[in-house]
Amino acid sequence: MTSLFDEIKASKEYGVICDETINRVIYTMTGRYKSDKLTLKAIKSTLREISGAFADAKALKRAEQLIEEMRGGGDERIARLSAEVLRLHSSSRERETFFGELIHDIREATGFKSVIDIGCGFTPFHLLMIPGWRDIDYLGIDINTAAVALLNRFFELIKAKARARAGDVLVSPPEESAGCALLFKTLPLLEHWEKGAGRRLVNGLRCPFVAITFPIKSLGGRDVGMKRTYQEYMEREFAGFNTVMYKEYRNEMGYVLEPRAENTEPR
Ligand SMILES: C[S@@+](CC[C@H](N)C(=O)[O-])C[C@H]1O[C@@H](n2cnc3c(N)ncnc32)[C@H](O)[C@@H]1O
Repeated sequence: MTSLFDEIKASKEYGVICDETINRVIYTMTGRYKSDKLTLKAIKSTLREISGAFADAKALKRAEQLIEEMRGGGDERIARLSAEVLRLHSSSRERETFFGELIHDIREATGFKSVIDIGCGFTPFHLLMIPGWRDIDYLGIDINTAAVALLNRFFELIKAKARARAGDVLVSPPEESAGCALLFKTLPLLEHWEKGAGRRLVNGLRCPFVAITFPIKSLGGRDVGMKRTYQEYMEREFAGFNTVMYKEYRNEMGYVLEPRAENTEPR
């Protein structure tokens, strides 16, 4: 008999999600439904929610082609092709016009020389757009093993001090340290799964600063009260932190937080 795990792993769409996440979702969903068929359906729909548009095999295939086209190219061609990769995903596409400003603001506030990008998606394809990128230690973490493999191929090609690894931060929080953690549009997903997950994760990070962003408009560009909801969430969950930066961009708002002295526990 095929196990639920094997069935998910064999699927083109969900097989690219890391084992930790698949097992976490199977564990949570098992026993809630009347039949295996309904359980499998619920598991797939949850995995789709968690991984967002990344489960889109077509976009990943196209990204792979674009990375191949980068081979042998100079910085200008690589930057142009990276921008094309970024446009394949709605989340990074929306940020195209202000990524430079956002990362500049974060660097001004933190002086980072290294980052851990949690739930990175395609964001590291912006690397060439960060001044002095060759000296930045960049670690991307995501549940999508296919996106991670593409990122590592890209990093190797541009000879960056960067790597990506697959992992589920709800199962294994990062143990690496860095000047700043990036949590771009990822906290709502983690919270949706487990209330308080964002604060627990941030409290355990070995980073003096954490940059957190939220969407403030729906994908269709409508204002549906997200800004207020996430501002209240931040006030409630991160009261033990100083906000060293807050700024609104076109359709995203960004915070940089630093733990208050009384909130810093020895690690
Ligand atoms: C909304 S997307 C944001 C992607 C990217 N940070 C950006 O702003 O463009 C959320 C990302 O988090 C990843 N993700 C979701 N749950 C995760 C988890 N538990 N651990 C690590 N990554 C996760 C998804 O695969 C997806 O790439």
